[in-house]
Order: sequence, then C-alpha cells, then structure tokens
Amino acid sequence: MNSILLVLYYGWILSLATLINGYEQKPLGATRAPLKRVAIIGAGAGGSSSAYNLRKYADQSLLDVNITVFERASYVGGRSTTVNVFDDPAYPIELGASIFVSVNHNLVNASRELGLMVKGAGEDRPGESEETIGIWDGKRFVYILSDSLSWWNIAKLVWRYGLAPVRAQTLMKTTVGKFLRLYEEPLFPFKSLTAAAAEVGLLDTTSVTGEVFLEENSVSPKFSREIIQASTRVNYGQNLPVIHGLEAMVCMATDGAMAIQGGNWQIFAGMLSASEANVRLESTVRSIDRNDDGTLTITSTSAGSDMETDVFDEVVIAGPLQDSGISISPPPERIPDEIPYVELYVTLFSSPHRLSPKYFDLAGSGKTVVPETVLTTLPEDSNLPPSQSGVGPAGFWSISTLRTVNSPGSASSPAKHYVYKIFSPQRVTAKFVSQILGLEEEEKEGRDSTVFADNSSIEDLPKHHISWFHEKIWNPYPVLHPRVTFEEAVLAPNMWYTSGMESFISTMETSALMGKNVAALMFQSWFGGEAEYDGSQTFWEKSGI
Ligand SMILES: Cc1cc2nc3c(=O)[nH]c(=O)nc-3n(C[C@H](O)[C@H](O)[C@H](O)COP(=O)(O)OP(=O)(O)OC[C@H]3O[C@@H](n4cnc5c(N)ncnc54)[C@H](O)[C@@H]3O)c2cc1C
Ligand SMILES: *[C@@H]1O[C@H](CO)[C@@H](O)[C@H](O)[C@H]1NC(C)=O
Ligand SMILES: *[C@@H]1O[C@H](CO)[C@@H](O)[C@H](O)[C@H]1NC(C)=O
Ligand SMILES: *[C@@H]1O[C@H](CO)[C@@H](O)[C@H](O)[C@H]1NC(C)=O
Repeated sequence: MNSILLVLYYGWILSLATLINGYEQKPLGATRAPLKRVAIIGAGAGGSSSAYNLRKYADQSLLDVNITVFERASYVGGRSTTVNVFDDPAYPIELGASIFVSVNHNLVNASRELGLMVKGAGEDRPGESEETIGIWDGKRFVYILSDSLSWWNIAKLVWRYGLAPVRAQTLMKTTVGKFLRLYEEPLFPFKSLTAAAAEVGLLDTTSVTGEVFLEENSVSPKFSREIIQASTRVNYGQNLPVIHGLEAMVCMATDGAMAIQGGNWQIFAGMLSASEANVRLESTVRSIDRNDDGTLTITSTSAGSDMETDVFDEVVIAGPLQDSGISISPPPERIPDEIPYVELYVTLFSSPHRLSPKYFDLAGSGKTVVPETVLTTLPEDSNLPPSQSGVGPAGFWSISTLRTVNSPGSASSPAKHYVYKIFSPQRVTAKFVSQILGLEEEEKEGRDSTVFADNSSIEDLPKHHISWFHEKIWNPYPVLHPRVTFEEAVLAPNMWYTSGMESFISTMETSALMGKNVAALMFQSWFGGEAEYDGSQTFWEKSGI
C-alpha cells in the first residue's frame, strides 16, 4: 500500500475515533469509520450490482456504508422481470432480459455466489423440432439451423457461406477480448468509459455501423445479412446499417447462453439482500439537491405517503436519466444526451396450436414442423425507406417457442399448450396471430370472423385458441447509432451514473459492470485516491484496502 495514503488513512480513522470516542487508539480491524450514506436510484442490474459491490468493498475495508435503494416499480429487477403463464407461479417466463452468456463474469459469478440455479438457454423448449432456429425474410426461410442453439456450427456454415463465418467468429473473439480488459486493472475502475474504450481499441468498432465494420473485415454481405442481422434484430430490434459494430459483435457472442431458473431478476434480488441495503419499492425519486456541505438531499414520493427527504453522502443514478423524471439542482455541468430508445412490443401467449407450416411456406417442402425459434432478416433486394422501423416484409423481429405447459381447466386430462414470445415493432394483430397459428382457415369455415378486423388484437381471439396472453411495450435498449463518446460515470461530485454504458453495450452484464465500476470509484474517492487511473498504483493500493 502506498505509504502516504496509509498514513493519511489511519490518521483520518484516528481523528474520527478521537471525535467520536475521545482519544483512544483502537486495535486494527476493530475500528469502523462512520457510515457513508449512499443512495442508489433503481433496483435493476446496475443499481443492484452497485449495492452488492459497495458492500463487498466495505467488508474489505474499515469503512462502513449504509445503502438505501429507491425503486419506483413494485418489484426488483427493472428490465429483467418475469410473468407467470396462467398466473401460475409454476410457469414463470421472462418478459424482459432473458439470457446472459459465459463471458458475463459479473452475472455468472454472482449467480454462483448467491447459490442460484443456472440453466442452459432454451432448455425448456419443447424440442419437438430438430430445427431449432429458422431465419425468415418474410417470404422464405433463408437458413435453418438444426440441433443447435449456437451460431457457430462452423462446418455447416462454411458450406453455405465460405470463409465469412470463420472471419466473423475471429472478429467476435478479438472484440470480446478487448472488452474484457475493462474488467481488470489497470483499466478498472474507469471514470471515463470513452477513455477506457479508446485504450482497449474499441472506438473503431463503435464508430461505424455493423454493416461497415463487417465489410471492412471482409465478412461477406450474405452472411452478414442472413445470420448476423438476424441476431441484431432479435437482440436489439435493429438492422446492420443502424446498429454499431461493437453491439453487432456482442450479438454473435452467444457461447454458453444461460438463464436463472425461475427468472434472472433473482440475481438482482440476491445482490440487494446480500448488500443489506434498505430497499424502498414504489418509491420514486423526484429531485436531488446539493447542500452547502456537499451532501445531497433526495426528495421521493411513494404511494400513500407524502414527500420524503433524506440526506446522503453519495447518490448513484442507476437507470436512464432521460426517463427518470429526476430534477437535479444545481444541474450538472454536463447532462447526458437524450438518445432515442427502441420501442418494442413483447407479446407472450399460450395456445394448443403450433406454428403453421403453411404460413411459413413449408407446406410444399414436406416439412410438418416450423423451427422453434423464427428469427427474421430483410430480403436481399429490400430497399427500406429510412423512416420505417426497418422490420421489413416479415413484420416482426422474432417468434420463439419457449416451453409447453399444462392448460388449467382440464385437470382431469391436462392439455399441452405451447408458450410463445413475439418481438415486434408494433402491436400484433389478432389476424397475424391467427395466421401464424394456422387458425384463419378454420375460422373462415364457420365461426367468428369479426376477430379478423384489422384493428383486432390478441385479446379478441377465443380462449380455446389463446388460453393466456400478456402484452408489454418496452423501451428495452437505445437505438445504437455509431458514436465515439459515452456518458461519464461521474455526473457531478458524489453523483454517479451507470446508464452511459447503454450506448456502448446494452445488456444486464454491462449494467452490472458499470454498477460495480461506480462502487469502486466511490471507494477510491473516499480514500483520497484519484478516481482516474494514473498508472502508478493498483486500485486496491489507491483505495487503501
Ligand atoms: C424485452 C427485453 C429483452 C432483453 N433481452 C436481454 C437479454 O437477453 N440479455 C441481456 O443481457 N439484456 C437484455 N435486455 C436488456 C437488459 O434488460 C437491460 O440492459 C438491463 O436490464 C438494464 O439494467 P439497468 O439496471 O441498467 O436498468 P433498468 O433495469 O431499467 O433499471 C433501472 C430502474 O430504475 C428505476 N427508476 C427509474 N427512475 C426512477 C426514479 N425516479 N425513482 C426510483 N426508481 C427509478 C426503474 O423503475 C428501473 O427499475 C433486454 C431488455 C428487454 C426489455
Ligand atoms: C441507515 O439509513 C436508514 C435510512 O436513511 C436509517 O433508517 C438507518 O437507521 C441507518 N442505519 C444505520 C445503521 O445507521
Ligand atoms: C469471477 O470469479 C473468478 C473466479 O473466482 C475471478 O477470477 C474473477 O475475477 C471474477 N470476476 C468478476 C468480474 O467478478
Ligand atoms: C375496430 O374498427 C371497427 C370498424 O372500423 C370499429 O367499429 C371498432 O370499434 C374498432 N375496434 C376497436 C377495438 O378499436
């Protein structure tokens, strides 16, 4: 440990001890400096990880923290949350973030530390089709993957795409390797994401569209459009000419895809409980005001009670500032740019019917089963006007068959129903749902045709066809336009921000990484360390831990 810091640090502890207890030297380890009061706004991946890591750092130091988490929703997890099919807790399914991957060290480690059950992504799928993923362009399947949830069945891909998949895989691995340097000293913790990204050489990747990045790296347009774009569409609702190169690469880093049994939100609930934070649900932060002594007053409202104010030493804003409704006074010198977010319709439903081979033009091919996951891309010749969402003739981003469930109401002879998830840029119509399930013909022959009016929605379909549904409109991630600067982790003194990360990479893991990053920066600042790495000491040396 740096000896000057050591002296300063113990000097400080001693003087605090003097103030509090009269002069009396405490043995090492027994002395705890007074509580630092930390407010975290948002109980999603970013805020929970911030709390979790603050507690870990506090446990390794002589400084204690008192953490309060404000969350305006009634649940923990933010954009990571589940709903129950038939409202039955036996059937939870993800409404938001559904998978993470083995290089997501923060999530993987936390799952292990918290003792959560991890399952392979797609493990619950019915598995009735050998064909797991089909890529649909609105007219035909351009590619079908069999017996695999991984993109990287290289042998098969090479047969169709030549060297492109090999090049793309190498590019993805190099890119992930660069990104992972942000996890380690000397770059971690980073005050400036822009500087850290420049240091590891990722700005070349964020400064161009995925299309340009792949072209520059000699990945053929056919492979890019048919495979990589299918992935950018299901993961981010964006085509390659829109999304930047780095996020396009993230979409291909799917090795070891996994999820938490029962819901990924449990990672964040577990983190919060391990952090011993005081979690206030249904508590909306309205304003943050700086006091003369540098502390910050938070004004919050919660259902059924008046405005409350609390004073903190540090505040973490752990969600996009632009839709937090928080007013900050005095305003920070630099307010994060407002950026467009994608509007995504998520439609979950259960039905006794399977996807229609006829709708997907498989009837003539002798195939009786549609791939369990239908991803989409644009046809080769498409010229979309720039104003359109970019979804193209397919009309949706993805349809996944999640699992089977036993339909209630038939307890004596439970019927098998399939649970589906549709991602689309607009609300799905009853007509569309009927078509993909092959109900249209059946309906025309006799019964109810009114449900096919153009403005009908899934709720208009009869219960014997759609036994349960849940619709949700999200702003799940930014439109990831190419850029070379990112919002800083420090908004103002003692005021931290995690969501600048979303324009770089928008995932649960990267939010969690940023939460840990601000926790580390905060500790550094308490120990008088320069928050920015100057190359001469390690983080722990600087933090006096
Ligand atoms: C449909 C969908 C699919 C996705 N798929 C994946 C995936 O497969 N894998 C993946 O890694 N990521 C996925 N994502 C993205 C992932 O969910 C997010 O990147 C991540 O969860 C963001 O976490 P966060 O903590 O930064 O923000 P959030 O989860 O949004 O948390 C911010 C929290 O702050 C709260 N808040 C905001 N303002 C206030 C206020 N004024 N007072 C109090 N509380 C406030 C909000 O209620 C919210 O709970 C998906 C997202 C969606 C919606
Ligand atoms: C932590 O802060 C909360 C709310 O601000 C307060 O009620 C609680 O007493 C504090 N805990 C400790 C140990 O100081
Ligand atoms: C995850 O755990 C491994 C093994 O304990 C450790 O080496 C690594 O630093 C951890 N990474 C993170 C981000 O927690
Ligand atoms: C749908 O359109 C019909 C005819 O235009 C109208 O009568 C009906 O009220 C509409 N239904 C909804 C749910 O908007």
